[in-house]
Amino acid sequence: MFSTIEWTDEGVILLDQRRLPEQEIYLTLRSAEEVAEAIRDMAIRGAPAIGVAAAMGIALGFRSADDDSPGTRRPRFESLARLLTSTRPTAVNLSWAVERMRRRFEEHVSDPFPRLASALKEEALLVRHEDIEANRAMGRHGAELLPDDCRVLTHCNAGALATAGYGTALGVVRAAVESGKRVAVYADETRPFLQGSRLTAWELHRDGIPVTVVTDEMAGHLFQRRKIDVCLVGADRIARNGDTANKIGTYQVAVLAQAHGVPFYVAAPTSTIDLAAVTGAEIPIEERSPLEVAHIGGRRVVPEGVPVIHPAFDVTPHRLIAAIVTERGVVRPPFEAGLVALCGPGAGNAPRSPRPAGR
Ligand code: MRU
Repeated sequence: MFSTIEWTDEGVILLDQRRLPEQEIYLTLRSAEEVAEAIRDMAIRGAPAIGVAAAMGIALGFRSADDDSPGTRRPRFESLARLLTSTRPTAVNLSWAVERMRRRFEEHVSDPFPRLASALKEEALLVRHEDIEANRAMGRHGAELLPDDCRVLTHCNAGALATAGYGTALGVVRAAVESGKRVAVYADETRPFLQGSRLTAWELHRDGIPVTVVTDEMAGHLFQRRKIDVCLVGADRIARNGDTANKIGTYQVAVLAQAHGVPFYVAAPTSTIDLAAVTGAEIPIEERSPLEVAHIGGRRVVPEGVPVIHPAFDVTPHRLIAAIVTERGVVRPPFEAGLVALCGPGAGNAPRSPRPAGR
């Protein structure tokens, strides 16, 4: 089994997702700056995975006692927090993880430096561990939604690669398969970064779970021919009313699912729920470089001078979502009451302010 992200004495080790499926290369990151760059450039991606990376980035930033004095600790923490949360704006898991690290930092801010450093490392490891546990629990809850024999359409990669392990939407698929169900997956290619064809197909194929890659615009045809029984996707941020931001292209899959009477499910940990965003209109949508769309495999596929845009996420309105699967259970419409109950004191995300940068 591969590992998406690990902490070692050498530094943070992560599987470089830009190189898959051709090459399995692990990077060793020794500073918070290197972690921030890896998140920005998508060597690691997926909402829960970048949350874990951010937590480890902060722990890395406190590995060395250089320049340490009581007066420098808070400025150091704040500058690491800014660096890491500024990398990608849509997935709320990033600021959620940084806030967790902040709470631990405040508990130990006056301790001797080695104690502070080891508390931050422990917290980062806990964020990673709890993510895997949450995915396993989500898998158990979500597997019950899948028929015994079914074909699932997924968009982007919400698998082991997008998390600390096991996956959210793909964790549900894995759990269903482990319980004896027969599940075949259609993976949308997911232009332009190709998370579906490069990553979802790679990890499911390794696990022996049947997966077929389709280009994004083939989905309508598959629905029409009744080849899809269930849609299952992950999320980058879920607003209080259930509106869900996920990879660009998810919304059109949800519209198609509704048009064809196919249930559309979202699987995400409570760390992805943002009760401070009342609706999806408040979710910041990352704009990435148009060059990522205008080039395929290093070759330009759009004439010079023609404008290209690259919103990296879209928002699926809650009315198109049949259920949201979390590690604490399955929430059905109307979502607000269920999400608020799940995220009450001590559970998942409490409302936060100020809003993260990048709106
Ligand atoms: O741009 P990415 O690859 O980070 O986008 C990832 C997604 O949209 C995933 O579906 C989402 O983060 C859920 S991952 C469990």
